Amino acid sequence: MKENPLRIGALVSGGGTNLQAVLDACAGGRIPGRVVFVGSDNPEAHGLTRAKNAGIPTFVTDYGRILAERRRDPASHPAPPDWDQDQALARQGIAKGSGAARFLASRAACEAALLEAMSPWPFDLLVLAGFMRLLSPYLMDRVSPDPFRPRIMNIHPAILPAFPGTDGYGDTFRHGCKVGGCTVHFVDYGEDSGPIIGQRAFPILPADDLESVKKKGLALEWELYPECMRLFAEGRLAVEANETGRRIVKILPERGTP
Ligand code: GAR
Repeated sequence: MKENPLRIGALVSGGGTNLQAVLDACAGGRIPGRVVFVGSDNPEAHGLTRAKNAGIPTFVTDYGRILAERRRDPASHPAPPDWDQDQALARQGIAKGSGAARFLASRAACEAALLEAMSPWPFDLLVLAGFMRLLSPYLMDRVSPDPFRPRIMNIHPAILPAFPGTDGYGDTFRHGCKVGGCTVHFVDYGEDSGPIIGQRAFPILPADDLESVKKKGLALEWELYPECMRLFAEGRLAVEANETGRRIVKILPERGTP
């Protein structure tokens, strides 16, 4: 492994099969990096057990508990002192006075706790591996403030920009798509809208059901996510604005190749 391996922080909410793929790829040298912490919003996430088994530090920021306590008593977990609501709404292109403000403030309260929990472990890249909570501008601005040097990655179970949200394979299958897939992208202020790094597709055949679609998709996720992390570690992901103004990822050739 090279001298300064990529320091990867990971967030999970559930089973953590993608996390496992990342841990295995680091151990096998397919990612020149190491996972420095695994955090979760869910105390029951099996991904935490996978991390512990690999000797990786873990923590839980229990969003469910924080949000329930906040609903009973907003002062129990206030929005952090450096929370700027108007700026956050503007970042997401949302008009003032909408219900989104309360939602974002509650996320910022959780994210302040999350950032505090992450603080012992400096990292180069934060990967969302089945982390089922939206990131608000509060966390984005503190972890990945430069849109041309993003450092948060997500894996999504659909061929974006189709089917953003929480049930990519379900939405793909119920739509009657004949192809499904997965996408790795950098995270921006929107929902599953950031610059796309890599995608894989698979056919959906008449004999398929939702379970088999998920199985095919996950198998591709486990290949794609480590590949994208390797490209990041090698400094081969360049974010540029194209002629439409959209930020896209250009994959640079391996060093030494034309
Ligand atoms: C994966 O299919 C991942 O793409 C999806 O959750 C699953 C997590 O599985 N992520 C999202 O839907 C994010 N919006 P895992 O816990 O076994 O890696």
